[in-house]
Amino acid sequence: MGLTIKQGSRRRITLMAALIAALLTDAWANAQLLGKSQPKNYPWSDANLSPDVRADMVIKEMTLDEKILLLHGQGVDFSTAGPTGSNGGAGYTKPIPRLGIPSIQMADSASGVTLGSLRGRYSTALPNNLGAASSWDPQLAFEYGALIGRELRDEGYSMSLGGGVNLAREPRNGRTFEYQGEDPLLAGTLAGNVVRGLQSQYVIGDLKHFAMNDQESGRSALNANVDKRAMRETDLLAFQIALGISDAGAVMCSYNRVNGDYACENQYLLRDVLKKDFKFKGFVLSDWGGTHSTAKASHAGLDQEEPGIFFFGDDLKKVIESDEVSQEELNDHVHRILRTVFAVGLFDHPVQTQVPDVDRGFALAQSIAERSIVLLKNNGDVLPLNGVRAIAVIGGHADVGVLSGGGSAQTDPPGGSVVPPPPATDVMSSVIRPAWMPSSPLRALTAKLPNAKVTYNSGDELVTAAAAAKQADVAIVFAYQWEAEGSDLPTLDLAPEQNKLIETVAAANPKTIVVLETGSPATMPWIDKVSGVVEAWYPGIRGAEALANILVGEVNPTGKLAVTFPRGDADLPHPKLILPPPESEFNFAAVAEFSDFMKLAAKGLPPFQIDYDEGLKVGYKWYDAEKKPVLFPFGFGLSYSSYAYSGLSVSPGDPAIVSFRVLNTGKHAGTEIAQVYASLPDAAEEPPKRLVGWTRVELAPGESKQVAVPVSRNRLTVYDEASDSWKQIPGKYIIRVGNSSQNLSLEQPLTF
Ligand code: BGC
Repeated sequence: MGLTIKQGSRRRITLMAALIAALLTDAWANAQLLGKSQPKNYPWSDANLSPDVRADMVIKEMTLDEKILLLHGQGVDFSTAGPTGSNGGAGYTKPIPRLGIPSIQMADSASGVTLGSLRGRYSTALPNNLGAASSWDPQLAFEYGALIGRELRDEGYSMSLGGGVNLAREPRNGRTFEYQGEDPLLAGTLAGNVVRGLQSQYVIGDLKHFAMNDQESGRSALNANVDKRAMRETDLLAFQIALGISDAGAVMCSYNRVNGDYACENQYLLRDVLKKDFKFKGFVLSDWGGTHSTAKASHAGLDQEEPGIFFFGDDLKKVIESDEVSQEELNDHVHRILRTVFAVGLFDHPVQTQVPDVDRGFALAQSIAERSIVLLKNNGDVLPLNGVRAIAVIGGHADVGVLSGGGSAQTDPPGGSVVPPPPATDVMSSVIRPAWMPSSPLRALTAKLPNAKVTYNSGDELVTAAAAAKQADVAIVFAYQWEAEGSDLPTLDLAPEQNKLIETVAAANPKTIVVLETGSPATMPWIDKVSGVVEAWYPGIRGAEALANILVGEVNPTGKLAVTFPRGDADLPHPKLILPPPESEFNFAAVAEFSDFMKLAAKGLPPFQIDYDEGLKVGYKWYDAEKKPVLFPFGFGLSYSSYAYSGLSVSPGDPAIVSFRVLNTGKHAGTEIAQVYASLPDAAEEPPKRLVGWTRVELAPGESKQVAVPVSRNRLTVYDEASDSWKQIPGKYIIRVGNSSQNLSLEQPLTF
């Protein structure tokens, strides 16, 4: 692409025209950003027309260059405000003022709008996605997305790059914290509602990373070998469910290869499954540097190259002019982007910037954190902290803040990290580094317990930590595991010094409670020696306040794990993380600028193989099938109350209605997350059970409620590769009900 500049006066005129056009374009883009532009009256301004009709009306007026302009980004430069006209986010497509087509200003925003620190902007840091998934609450997921959508618009963005929904097939994946757990129904339902919330604010939502990007190590090189049935019933099913709920405007294809082809030029994934079978109407954009070809990617179904132009600029124009890529194919790419701009409401509701409503963000962040925190152990009712006079808070920087996850899902702490980050060693570590939110557990707890003596010990010295614990009624040790995009955890074990600290404190005071801030499951060699364990995840800007409310019992915990906590790495499908050979890894030390890295990424790296031979057995399905005991099962989480289940009945039909009664047998009001699983007939050759539904039941002490959970027939089918369809296997199904995947006290057969 670029401008053709000829010799002499013609050259001057062309140059001037180009300059004026560029200035006008930028002025228009800026006016749009400031919310000053009024969309003119175009034939496609009529909001009563369908998005498809409106998109086609525009396409008829477009030149080839204008079409191509929509099919790639304008590059990204994190050291400046980005390319001209960009709002400084991770991606930007130029507007076409002549036709009233707005720019698409993209920002990462998995748990809040990112890159704030580079631009001096504030946005609310919500609890991380896996944390929020522990709420099992679709309405909360919607509010989560809607808040991010509002703040995106407030800050001048029109598209979110959040929406991660890869399953925790490899829980050491460094991005487990920004996904929604290990079950396709739970993950898909929650991610779908997040995107629905985002799009309710006229912001384009995106689901990612399509597909099988289940670890970070060697993500640009790895070839995931996995059979179709396994994909369709696990990761792809999560996307399918999320798309069904949200009508997401965009799907981001991933860096890795799947069964030989890069995901962003993978005909099976993009064309056959996503566009044909899932009937996805939006556009596919490549992960940043994930495009590797022109005609092949275009044929396979990639619509937009991001973040810049290596393949979908001049090269795309050439293959169109030579008919290697047909006009029909080109127009389909353009149509998908334009119809999304209309369908989501971006055209009719131009972005209006304003100061984000910080108070509203705080309130929602706290209430989400309160519903995300999972109480894992509570021996002798050590919690809530009733009548405790002396508390020793130990370790984990609990005096100043709570941890957050790193990489493109990083929402920056206002005022910077309250714990200074380690010095950067290369271009990546200058952006991806631990950041702690200014939400101090010590302060929050002190405020809640004015009559108790709450002390802090950093945990750096075991001797003083033990002494502090000894002098207190209760010791609370804060332990953490930082996780970030671009690398994986070598192990689910916490750092040895953290385990040692917990052991030492527990030896000094049996009333020891461990609070974990992790983005993945953690192993707990000390589990039998402590009284309490609370998983707080990366709880966001109001994390400490939410945690304090749980610890003192002002809030009764409701969170249930969206991911299994295994006993150790040895019990995982791949006990050792599969690492790439050196030639399949980028040498970040040799890269000076982010843009150089993009060039390297486009070139690609030699593949290395990962065989996902555990197939369908992801998460709890693996431990169930392999009969491996776990530390804490999927769906598990304690409450300060207790619940009893009775009277299960299952009425067949589509949906089947699963009814039962839940009674609060405890002394506190609470919300129980009642779960429904199904075991399929042997002939289905499935893992022992799968989640097929759930409901949240609010109950006062002593109260009971009859609940009905609809289970759609789709949730009881299996994917048949030979016929490329979903089949119901005849036979006896068992419907199981309870409050974790391993505590299912009720069961009833259902025969088809
Ligand atoms: C990540 C994406 C992200 C993009 C833009 C990539 O490295 O994998 O999830 O949206 O960068 O920041």
